[in-house]
Amino acid sequence: MFSSDSDQLGRCNSNHVVEPKFSDTVDQEQNNVSKIIELRSVYKKYGKIKQEVVVLQNINLNIYTGEIVALVGPSGSGKSTLLNLIGGLDQPDSGDVIVDGRNLGGLNDNELSVFRNQTIGFVFQFFYLQPYLTAQENVEIPLVFRGESRAVRSQKARRVLEQVGLSARISYLPNQLSGGQVQRVAIARALVNSPKIILADEPTGNLDMNTGTEIINLLKQINANLHTTMVIVTHDLNVAKHAHRVIEISDGKIV
Ligand SMILES: Nc1ncnc2c1ncn2[C@@H]1O[C@H](COP(=O)(O)OP(=O)(O)OP(=O)(O)O)[C@@H](O)[C@H]1O
Ligand SMILES: [Mg+2]
Repeated sequence: MFSSDSDQLGRCNSNHVVEPKFSDTVDQEQNNVSKIIELRSVYKKYGKIKQEVVVLQNINLNIYTGEIVALVGPSGSGKSTLLNLIGGLDQPDSGDVIVDGRNLGGLNDNELSVFRNQTIGFVFQFFYLQPYLTAQENVEIPLVFRGESRAVRSQKARRVLEQVGLSARISYLPNQLSGGQVQRVAIARALVNSPKIILADEPTGNLDMNTGTEIINLLKQINANLHTTMVIVTHDLNVAKHAHRVIEISDGKIV
């Protein structure tokens, strides 16, 4: 169904642990590939007893540093829920979510906020920029949380806006930018803390095909330059075909 343009990491669907095909552990070590995301027997349900809906069932998944993984599946299959668990925005009912060496189940709310700020960059379909802040001010938000000085914030925000090709737009408000430019600002904001992982939920869902292709090319370029691991939820085959690996989810299970 989907093709992959990288054979290095390969694609593997299984009912057990889902991970790339490496010939053996030695190969993994030689390639300097390390596991950055691990889900073990993860279950998630919503609703009260009797009206309970099991949204994720026995998810076992390994993702390695530097991979671009596309997460695909029908509406309601549990993709966003899975992404939220990896990003520490939600907790499983049982099982372990281990990200960058930390078992998220063992972190309190404050520690989870720090984890998100330092390790994860989030990109969403609806961008979620602050409408009254300029592009640069929006990108500075995660740095404000970190307590960075005004000068450092400005310098870092300008640098990532340059990386996404928006140097000429730093003082624009979101409603003065095109959809693709707004998503670039959102990607710059996700990048500003140099996260190891970018989690993107339908990053091209609100964009036309050409602009969507520009955004996926930008994400690929970031992955190639910075080795940032990416998990991208998408309905868009045009996006999924660029991933190193496609993981399909249906009714809360990896298929
Ligand atoms: N906070 C919540 N309370 C109750 N049910 C929820 C909640 N969040 C999600 N669900 C349910 O969990 C299921 C999976 O939702 P999820 O958002 O993960 O799907 P998805 O695969 O991302 O779908 P889409 O492609 O439409 O975004 C859905 O049936 C949804 O109704
Ligand atoms: Mg969703």
